[in-house]
Amino acid sequence: FKPADLGGLKLTITAGPTREAIDPVRYLTNHSSGKMGYAIAEAAAKRGATVTLISGPTNLKTPAGVERIDISSAEQMHQAAMEHATTSDIFIGCAAVADFRPADVSEQKMKKKDGEDDMVIRLVKNPDIIACVAALDAQRPFTVGFAAETQDVEQYARGKLARKHLDLICANDVSNEGQGFNSDQNALHLFWPQGDKALPLTTKAELGAQLVSEIVSLFKAGK
Ligand code: C5P
Repeated sequence: FKPADLGGLKLTITAGPTREAIDPVRYLTNHSSGKMGYAIAEAAAKRGATVTLISGPTNLKTPAGVERIDISSAEQMHQAAMEHATTSDIFIGCAAVADFRPADVSEQKMKKKDGEDDMVIRLVKNPDIIACVAALDAQRPFTVGFAAETQDVEQYARGKLARKHLDLICANDVSNEGQGFNSDQNALHLFWPQGDKALPLTTKAELGAQLVSEIVSLFKAGK
């Protein structure tokens, strides 16, 4: 049992995949389930925090007490994130944002053409949402990112921590079966400029609760 000790604290969390339209009926996306972000939102709300969850398309129920904003594309997520970041104490970027989107979205359904056996869709880079939040000059929230890696976890995670100017990065080794994408379990290794901590394999619900405790204590230490 955790008391409602986070009253007055505002968290904004991004979760799930984004969908990048190709035409009115097709899109690019990824396999993110949103479970980790929803678990963090639920754990923080249970402790009395004000939680805004900016969510891509998922099959998950909105956790009790959480304000959920549904978006589809990375650009929509970016807009919602910037609207909420400056009034938040803590921003957690858990979403699997598509790195690229189709440069041109066809207004009509694209048609197969006789005799054409290949096609090219040109992609352009999406905004790096968490880097934009971390780059805020004024009213910058304590900014927490995630890094899914398959090798050299610490090196890549610390690289992202520095490059995106984050306060904390939560790395998961997605080469280990049964954790990360779409799984109900996960293990994380947290890295921040002056330290690190491993959170061993457990349910995403339990990990969400542990993570909220770690994030809040680092946030308070930095104030
Ligand atoms: O660079 P990479 O995609 O591995 O970084 C992952 C972290 O950056 C996650 O916290 C993710 O939510 C965030 N991110 C973002 N906007 C992007 C790409 C990643 O906020 N366009």
